[in-house]
Amino acid sequence: MSDRPWLRGAGVLVTGAGGGIGRATCAAFARSGATVVGADLCDEWVGAVRDSLGEAGSSLSAVVADVTDSAALAAAVAEAELRCGRLDVAVAGAGIQAVGSVEDTPEEVWRRVLDVNLTGTWLLCKHAVPALRRAGGGTILCLVSTVGLHPRADLGAYCVSKAGLAMLVRVLGREVAADGIRVVGACPTGTDTPLLWGMVDGFNDRAGGAPRPDAGLLAGKPVQRWLTAEEVAAALTWLTSPDALMVTGSNIPLDFASA
Ligand SMILES: NC(=O)c1ccc[n+]([C@@H]2O[C@H](COP(=O)([O-])OP(=O)(O)OC[C@H]3O[C@@H](n4cnc5c(N)ncnc54)[C@H](O)[C@@H]3O)[C@@H](O)[C@H]2O)c1
Repeated sequence: MSDRPWLRGAGVLVTGAGGGIGRATCAAFARSGATVVGADLCDEWVGAVRDSLGEAGSSLSAVVADVTDSAALAAAVAEAELRCGRLDVAVAGAGIQAVGSVEDTPEEVWRRVLDVNLTGTWLLCKHAVPALRRAGGGTILCLVSTVGLHPRADLGAYCVSKAGLAMLVRVLGREVAADGIRVVGACPTGTDTPLLWGMVDGFNDRAGGAPRPDAGLLAGKPVQRWLTAEEVAAALTWLTSPDALMVTGSNIPLDFASA
């Protein structure tokens, strides 16, 4: 069933599990033989993903947790340990976008983007590290972004939240390396999900002209397409493999040589 034998029997928690990358990630880990708990703001997504997995679907379950709520995340980690028997991998996938310049972004939008993308991931790390330690080590994978590594105008709060996340990966990676816990930032370029299409709409609105199918986001890129969520999920599973044991405390671009 699995060409990723190291994931057989592993316990995995994914936040943002109902989104584009989250669903594909839950599916990739479950198909590889892991027991997966997906957390999101609701659990309506889980039936469809489970059905698409056939037999492997029984190893996927859902919990409802807002990543800005520390107690809810602690409960999600405890639930994942209970259902999986142990926690080997935590994937921080919950995220929101907001198109707007640094000057124009409303204060409440700025605070919300940083709260979900940066503080929410920090809270997951805070609760997952002791569980990973109990398992004798493991991996935290954070969905950063190429725009956490390179600036993009008119995406101020999102870029800053992702840049903060990239530094969280670097700091925490150093703090927990001796415990056998790896922390890796995966930095995809534009990936075909609802979040990306919301961003495209936002850039088109801001430009005020005729809508463009890519809002100019593909301009100058050497490969003229978006990533698929499944490609990102495959990279995430590879980052948990024994072949990636030396990758920690760093942020890995998944971007077709664009940046
Ligand atoms: N799609 C892209 O182009 C792209 C590129 C680079 C990085 N990323 C990052 O990958 C991650 C997944 O993005 P996606 O493209 O699948 O987006 P998506 O919008 O499809 O999914 C995001 C999920 O996060 C959930 N979420 C939002 N706020 C939450 C909260 N407070 N608590 C719990 N869950 C919450 C949403 O309900 C949704 O299911 C995000 O962190 C995003 O920033 C996406």
